[in-house]
Amino acid sequence: MAKRIDVSGLNAYYGSFLAIEDISMTIEPRSVTAFIGPSGCGKSTFLRTLNRMHEVTPGGRVEGKVMLDAENLYGAGIDPVAVRREVGMVFQRPNPFPTMSVYDNVAAGLRLNGKYRKSELDDVVEKSLRGANLWNEVKDRLNKPGSGLSGGQQQRLCIARAIAVEPKVLLMDEPCSALDPISTLAIEDLIGELKERFTIVIVTHNMQQAARVSDRTAFFNLAAVGQPGKLIEIDDTERIFSNPSVQATEDYISGRFG
Ligand SMILES: Nc1ncnc2c1ncn2[C@@H]1O[C@H](COP(=O)(O)OP(=O)(O)O)[C@@H](O)[C@H]1O
Ligand SMILES: [Mg+2]
Repeated sequence: MAKRIDVSGLNAYYGSFLAIEDISMTIEPRSVTAFIGPSGCGKSTFLRTLNRMHEVTPGGRVEGKVMLDAENLYGAGIDPVAVRREVGMVFQRPNPFPTMSVYDNVAAGLRLNGKYRKSELDDVVEKSLRGANLWNEVKDRLNKPGSGLSGGQQQRLCIARAIAVEPKVLLMDEPCSALDPISTLAIEDLIGELKERFTIVIVTHNMQQAARVSDRTAFFNLAAVGQPGKLIEIDDTERIFSNPSVQATEDYISGRFG
């Protein structure tokens, strides 16, 4: 099958510090890939290289190649802003624009992209909120501030905002770690639905979550603090959790370290 993402020989630095070294992996369209591994092994850093967010950090620098379909995201003449439209991101803490209404939060990305008629915006806002399983809860309060929603609703609002611009890929960095168990399950169910339309990459500290939501799992590790994080293996989730190829993966998932 054609790959949606094809990373090869990727290094990422903060100044002179090599945070992740020589990462290569492929990701298929309409799949969920989970990134797991101990704190500091570079999961978030790697995730942010996939939509050119890493370089926003002062000193942030990337070597290597990230192909999104036929395009190298680090090739000459590529506009990072356009990349971030194709590869959306959802963060650990729900971050709706605090002064904006529910409606305007979802419409924000579209408005940046150009002029839309009110009726077009209405359609996209409704479709995106439905897509994020939030419509029924907010349809009567579209003009109220997004920040007035519960934490779990805010996170689904952020997902609605991300999918409104129809990205190819959705990156999620521990999207449930600030949420209660019920809200977490709602997001996990949603991920299962969204993968019909989007390619999803999720960082999670929660092994059960990785096992529940993902098709593929990538285990990252680092030899010692100060050493670069590396991709140890990536395989079908079922295999990673039953019979991984590398002992360190087995040790990590069975809780012997990390
Ligand atoms: N803004 C930053 N400046 C300098 N070093 C950073 C920064 N962010 C992360 N790092 C370092 O990069 C390494 C990888 O961090 P990170 O990607 O956050 O790991 P993880 O998400 O797996 O916990 C760590 O050593 C971390 O201290
Ligand atoms: Mg992280």
